[in-house]
Amino acid sequence: MKSGETGQLAGKNVLLGVTGGIGAYKAAYLVRELQRQGAVVSVVMTESATRFIAPLTMETLSGHPVGLDMFSLTEERTIGHIDRAGWADVFLVAPATANYIGKAACGIADDLLTTITLAVTCPVVLAPAMNSRMWAHPAVRKNLETLVQRGVYVVWPGEGELACREEGPGRLAETGDIVKTVAGCFEAGDLSDIRVLITAGPTREPLDPVRFISNRSSGRMGFALAKAAVRRGARVQIISGPVEVAAPAEASVRRVNTAREMLSQIEQVLPDSDWLVMAAAVADFAPSSVHKDKVKKGDMLELTLTLARNPDILETLKPFKGGRLFVGFAAETRDMLENARKKAKEKGLDLIVANDVSGQETGFETDENSGVILDQGDLAEEVPRMTKLQMADRILDAALKVWKEKGN
Ligand code: C5P
Repeated sequence: MKSGETGQLAGKNVLLGVTGGIGAYKAAYLVRELQRQGAVVSVVMTESATRFIAPLTMETLSGHPVGLDMFSLTEERTIGHIDRAGWADVFLVAPATANYIGKAACGIADDLLTTITLAVTCPVVLAPAMNSRMWAHPAVRKNLETLVQRGVYVVWPGEGELACREEGPGRLAETGDIVKTVAGCFEAGDLSDIRVLITAGPTREPLDPVRFISNRSSGRMGFALAKAAVRRGARVQIISGPVEVAAPAEASVRRVNTAREMLSQIEQVLPDSDWLVMAAAVADFAPSSVHKDKVKKGDMLELTLTLARNPDILETLKPFKGGRLFVGFAAETRDMLENARKKAKEKGLDLIVANDVSGQETGFETDENSGVILDQGDLAEEVPRMTKLQMADRILDAALKVWKEKGN
């Protein structure tokens, strides 16, 4: 197939950045596959990438001059980095090394590729590849987290034997998966008629003016759902407890503290919503009374708190559900499936996303998640470990399927 004609990426300009890891040789296959899907591909390489694969190979395959040098006399006469950034419909960096990821997260622009990284306004996809221990390093995780929160799509590396002969995660994702993620950037629109209300984060139940009861929810799953839904064309309203994650600019956000405030905000917005996605970790109990002044320890050796049940938001709203689609979450530390099924029935949910939050690497306060999506017919879709943004798309896919089955 000649580039630019048909395929998932027909006529799209893909700017491919190649950084210096052993996976760089796979970038040649990537160029081929992107072209097979109709893309026009132009390549930029870092100095170290050229040690692994020859620029001539990439130039011959792509049919375009390879960008190598920030100070190229021929290119920079026309301000090459800005031209290249403006040309791209999508910017893909594969493989993305730990070094590149660190520079991108910090905004360092010390070569052509990192300078372009700051100049692009199109969607950005990164496919990291590195040794497992580097992949697990807190600095790499933190940098990736920063990028993910900025809206960068990350194609998670695979597990297996690495070039260094070690086993583990860090291998560049399969070419097909990378191309699929790139193509996904242009698949906006399948939720364009749908108004989605997403709750996110924890609630805070005050005890006195300085103390509260809360939980470990970071809001990342809810905000990832919001990002994915916005990208797919939905009109998104977020109602969030106190969180630090940034909301997508296109979504409107209402901030709340307590479960009761969350319920009251949802009641206001629900009439104008088609879907309610309750990703918030709503506190089940709140202090029975809130002290007006800070509680002093005095000579107390013990303090007994009395908690009262909060309303269950989903159960409260069940009678007002109408033709809407309700999605709930079940964060469990044991008997995950059994508890999730029970919850879905009790709360009248169309879908429930169950995840095991007993581990360290998925669930609360992380960028990754895994779990099971159950519908009313008990159909289970296992979602293996992936980024919350990727999981968000799986959840939205399942929700859209049920929505269509309901006759919408
Ligand atoms: O019963 P449990 O809290 O485990 O159920 C979790 C689901 O119910 C989540 O979707 C959560 O947002 C929702 N929930 C609620 N009201 C509560 C507690 C949880 O709607 N008070």
